[in-house]
Amino acid sequence: MKGIVLAGGLGTRLYPLTKITNKHLLPIYDKPMIYYPIQTLVNAGIKEIMIVTGGNNAGDFLKLLGNGSDFGLKHLNFTYQAREGGIAEALGLCEYFAEGEKIAVMLGDNIIEKNIKTAVSRFKKRKEGAMIFLKKVKNPGEYGVAEVAGGKVINIVEKPRKPRSNLAVVGIYMYDNRVFDIVKTLKPSGRGELEITDVNNAYIKEGLMIFEMLRGGWADAGESIDSYNDTINFVRRRGANKK
Ligand code: G1P
Repeated sequence: MKGIVLAGGLGTRLYPLTKITNKHLLPIYDKPMIYYPIQTLVNAGIKEIMIVTGGNNAGDFLKLLGNGSDFGLKHLNFTYQAREGGIAEALGLCEYFAEGEKIAVMLGDNIIEKNIKTAVSRFKKRKEGAMIFLKKVKNPGEYGVAEVAGGKVINIVEKPRKPRSNLAVVGIYMYDNRVFDIVKTLKPSGRGELEITDVNNAYIKEGLMIFEMLRGGWADAGESIDSYNDTINFVRRRGANKK
């Protein structure tokens, strides 16, 4: 299984911090934000990783991460998203990298406390389909929100005005290689982007989506200035990526 970290976008919700740099290069306690999702994938046993960047200061990722030696890696892959086309468009750029394998995708601003090793092993054993993580939150309207019935996710709505549950979809997704065909069928949403929620709903429709409740803490550092600061405090107090 290969890993992908998505680190593009303009990070406008964190303006003016992101006016002259990329959101994923901002510090979270003692490390740049992007260190955390890379470490999550490495701790789950994934060694082949692609970083998709774009927006401001894309070149700085190469300078910061080099060949991934801070993570015990021998090599890192980089690709460039030329416009703000959304998470699913960024994922579509990785088809050649995936080479037919399953992939684990993590958003570059998501930080988790515990490891996802067991879930990754569970997904590796499956023949096909997709897997997501859900987490109960107080502000579901800021996320993709899942409706669960009979032990299955039956629907996800992106940032609903009236959330039908308090179950947010965490920014870590596992897919079989068919995801790249699904991305090609997507139409831009109201905000002009290809939405990862549409990819997930395609798997749900086919009955091929499984989920787990995420263990431990989760933070989306890019959601707002307050969530950015809460994330720093959370990492300082509780730590991240525990083995
Ligand atoms: C994205 C996804 C959303 C998900 C969230 C997790 O939103 O679109 O479904 O719940 O990440 O961090 P974004 O924060 O990019 O707006």
